[in-house]
Amino acid sequence: MPSMAESQVPNGSISFKNNRNNNNKPSFFSRKEKILEHRKSLPIASVERRLVEEVKKQDVLIIVGETGSGKTTQIPQFLFDSGFCRDGKAIGITQPRRVAAVTVAKRVAEECGVELGQKVGYSIRFEDVTSSSTRIKYMTDGLLLREALLDPYLSRYSVVIVDEAHERTVHTDVLLGLLKEVQNVRSKYIKDHTSVGHKRASNGTIVEKENTNPCIGVLKQCQGRKLSPLKLIIMSASLDARIFSEYFGGAKAVRVLGRQFPVDVFYTVEPQTDYLDSTIVTIFQIHSAEVSGDILVFLTGQEEIESVEKQIHENLQLLPEEKRNMKTFTIFSSLPSEQQMRVFAPAPAGFRKVILATNIAETSVTIPGIKYVIDPGVVKARSYDPVKGMESLIIVPTSKAQATQRSGRAGREGPGKCFRLYPEREYEKLEDSTKPEIKRCNLSNVILQLKALGVDDIFGFDFIEKPSRASIKKSLEELILLGALSDELKLSDPVGRQMARLPLDPVYSKALILASQFKCLDEMLIAVAMLSVESIFYEPREKLDEARTAKKCFASSEGDHLTLINVYRTSIELLEKRKSEVGKEKPEKILRKWCKENFINSRSLRHARDIHSQIRQHVEQMGLFISSCGDDTLQFRRCLAAAFFLNAALKQPDGTYRALASREVVQIHPSSVLFRTKADCIIFNEFVKTTNKYIRNITIIDGFWLTELAPHYYAKQD
Ligand code: CDP
Ligand code: MG
Repeated sequence: MPSMAESQVPNGSISFKNNRNNNNKPSFFSRKEKILEHRKSLPIASVERRLVEEVKKQDVLIIVGETGSGKTTQIPQFLFDSGFCRDGKAIGITQPRRVAAVTVAKRVAEECGVELGQKVGYSIRFEDVTSSSTRIKYMTDGLLLREALLDPYLSRYSVVIVDEAHERTVHTDVLLGLLKEVQNVRSKYIKDHTSVGHKRASNGTIVEKENTNPCIGVLKQCQGRKLSPLKLIIMSASLDARIFSEYFGGAKAVRVLGRQFPVDVFYTVEPQTDYLDSTIVTIFQIHSAEVSGDILVFLTGQEEIESVEKQIHENLQLLPEEKRNMKTFTIFSSLPSEQQMRVFAPAPAGFRKVILATNIAETSVTIPGIKYVIDPGVVKARSYDPVKGMESLIIVPTSKAQATQRSGRAGREGPGKCFRLYPEREYEKLEDSTKPEIKRCNLSNVILQLKALGVDDIFGFDFIEKPSRASIKKSLEELILLGALSDELKLSDPVGRQMARLPLDPVYSKALILASQFKCLDEMLIAVAMLSVESIFYEPREKLDEARTAKKCFASSEGDHLTLINVYRTSIELLEKRKSEVGKEKPEKILRKWCKENFINSRSLRHARDIHSQIRQHVEQMGLFISSCGDDTLQFRRCLAAAFFLNAALKQPDGTYRALASREVVQIHPSSVLFRTKADCIIFNEFVKTTNKYIRNITIIDGFWLTELAPHYYAKQD
């Protein structure tokens, strides 16, 4: 008798045979030869010479090319081979996403036959795998901005490639502005130092900025060091290179043709009420009704990915043995780096690979073997209300451009199919392209960085697309309130400088600095690390009660921050204990088991441990005093109030809360340990907008602390 699940599998399903690896090559082909052959087969290989010539000729070159054509992995190697790294200079390639920087660097190191971290390396926040011999360096766009704080002229680079520029992350946009300036200054330096006895008349830009840009001061210091010209390459997957070309004074754009097979796009007949459920149904429909080929699924984040992965495994268990030939792989930004490469490995013979990805797989990362794409049509995006000063992550429909990119992923190696989980009429309503992030995020982080780089006039900064005056103003105000800027908008010393040095959102940096004074930095380091990862607790729908009971063991009646600290400390104790017991099971394995029993996400917890050790190093280098407040949690909560005073909320008679700064009426998220609290005053760290306006990561404070600890804000509110 067929099991229930089996009877759900549509009739006429076929047996699967994976023929992807039968490429008629003798099986003793070495990996090295295979890689060489792969490199030669990429569309970009045939235009190597022309591309290198263009880079030699142009100061700024825009390269537009279909995803998967080989831009990211090949172009840096072409340039290296053509001598762009002579004199010990390096090629820097920025990526909007950490995972792309890591996986591409690993791939290129392999292609070059070198150990990662030597000739080829990567650097992302909290992880630096480079050395003095690194010549091809992949990094996040945010990281290159940070590097500019220490080396304002990015003097170690002969070429900077801004990759995935079409993504228009806020860091990419700011970086473009900075690079334009750096390139100008470097070429000006060269001109001045090559024209003997002839002082060139300044063209205005540099001299005028001399007083406002300390980079010029650094330039003087650099004189002994000899600056060379900087080549800029902007790479983009979108066809529209005009905006970049115009921004760089009519820079040349070249197009690299890719290979694209036809992709059949299917829409649902009716709108879907739950796109996660529809995703799972579609995966199994493809598995039972379509020929072999891997499936790529676009989801919005780690939580969704893990929940879908779990449900796939459960559903597979219900199928007869011979139909369980499906294997899941995941890829999202906080996946530990040693797990990220797994997604590129082929599935075992006869198995279908299902890749659950965030929009990282849209253009940044190309995974071979995809024939089917499932696109629920949504993406997690930042949204900012400059009037209220509230930033939130919300799930929004993709743009048409994103939908096209996603479906294109199915046609890389042969004809494919894309299943959009919405009706065609909905597609027509989508925006053409995604709004640049700089127009929809809180700018205090980048403004603080620009200030630290000596860019005083933020309103006058040459942004590729200007953010609204209102949001610049709001972020400047926030930085003044946090003490990072003086009333005259100058970077304060030491607080502003220290805040700019920490690779965190300004408010978290401020919390750490304050915690040193409140003698609870030990606790705050843990809290900040735990708040920097996605969902520590994990609440499967079908085991909600069990999960919530497990959470109670760690719960602090004072709030989520102390609860998170309890989880962290318990896990560390467990690890330490196991490490001292020789011959027992591996500590990490024990920890994973413990996490599972306690409904804690072990990946997130590990990520938090890494972040913790990195920020700890930073604060130690800064000379901050690390001590624990022990049982005096009042001290810790006072410190939270002092740092997060802009996120305080007061209880209203109807049980909801009113955020004091934004005047927004909010509810405590059901996942908070304070869900049913009666506390009058709280602070929160996260604002989530779904159908309701929720706040998360909450701690009880005393309302009087606000006027005591943040009088500059609350005294004037009365
Ligand atoms: O940057 P672009 O989208 O043009 O292509 P790429 O990232 O340089 O990828 C070129 C090729 O290398 C693709 O066919 C990828 O599948 C492959 N690749 C890979 O096999 N493993 C990686 N870690 C990265 C790329
Ligand atoms: Mg690429």
